[in-house]
Amino acid sequence: MGEPAGGMGNPHSPVLYQLSIEILQPESKGRYVDGTLGAGGHAKGILETSSPDGQLLGLDVDDQALAIAKSVLASYPKRATIQKGSYAEIDSHIQQIGWDCVNGVLLDLGLSSMQLDTSERGFSFIKDAPLDMRFDPSTGMSAEELLNSWDEQSIADMIWKFGEESKSRQIAREIVKQRPIRTASELANLVLKVYKGKRGKVHPATRTFQSVRMAVNQELETLEQGLERSVGVLCRAGRLAVISFHSLEDRLVKKFFQRESRDCICPPEQPGCTCSHKASVRILTRKPLIPDKEEIEENPRSRSAKLRAVEKI
Ligand SMILES: C[S@@+](CC[C@H](N)C(=O)[O-])C[C@H]1O[C@@H](n2cnc3c(N)ncnc32)[C@H](O)[C@@H]1O
Repeated sequence: MGEPAGGMGNPHSPVLYQLSIEILQPESKGRYVDGTLGAGGHAKGILETSSPDGQLLGLDVDDQALAIAKSVLASYPKRATIQKGSYAEIDSHIQQIGWDCVNGVLLDLGLSSMQLDTSERGFSFIKDAPLDMRFDPSTGMSAEELLNSWDEQSIADMIWKFGEESKSRQIAREIVKQRPIRTASELANLVLKVYKGKRGKVHPATRTFQSVRMAVNQELETLEQGLERSVGVLCRAGRLAVISFHSLEDRLVKKFFQRESRDCICPPEQPGCTCSHKASVRILTRKPLIPDKEEIEENPRSRSAKLRAVEKI
């Protein structure tokens, strides 16, 4: 299976590396998609395990990630294809390279350590930087544009829905009062002010930052479409593995897998089935797989990771 690209003890180590490779079972005759390539750690593992002939398509929307992944995967010129693009459009990407279906898809959601650590991207409130937060800074609305243009109600709804933040209304009011908001630390200090300077185990701005990032990148809509299309492109017995990092994502993945594994999705109180829905997958993980103590100690950012997987029937 090989050593993860990040190496042991490195914060860039791919999360749940062994388990995700074990569940995908890459084989030499197989075709695989890493829909969230990042620094290419999982992708390298898939290529190593599917040696000598397994093929991999790697997608990412972030040019910096793509550049790093290209150099990490440079030793597989004939077996790895790297493209800029969203996993939400996985079907058109596999068509473009002439594949009709794939034997495995991996989605490792959210933010890479690299993105979090690059201060100019504005993902982290520990670093002072312009508020951008786009995975692909060449397209769409930045966090700064969003926070300085949306009305108070929409900002409050976003912080509540994507951050599950109980003080969403007060934070939205403070944002509108203090506009223009330009930097990550301005936003973090404003949340801290709403919390009257009280800090718990996690910084009180964590949930607000998460909500803004999710809105800027339309993460839940992308995930919904990406799951649907990934199952759609799997060959028979092909596997989809998804690593999520917070409850909103995990809930969506879990519900999607449950629905797609059932022959009928009519409400339980309905006497007969009228939906004609057919199960398309079998669930491989009744409970999500999570990192062990050792991995969490080596890479604390893995602590909230959950891996769920299905197999196409
Ligand atoms: C947690 S990292 C992946 C790390 C990777 N598994 C590794 O081993 O290095 C998530 C990556 O997904 C990318 N990403 C976010 N949204 C995406 C989308 N819609 N399509 C493709 N990639 C996306 C991010 O830019 C980021 O590089």
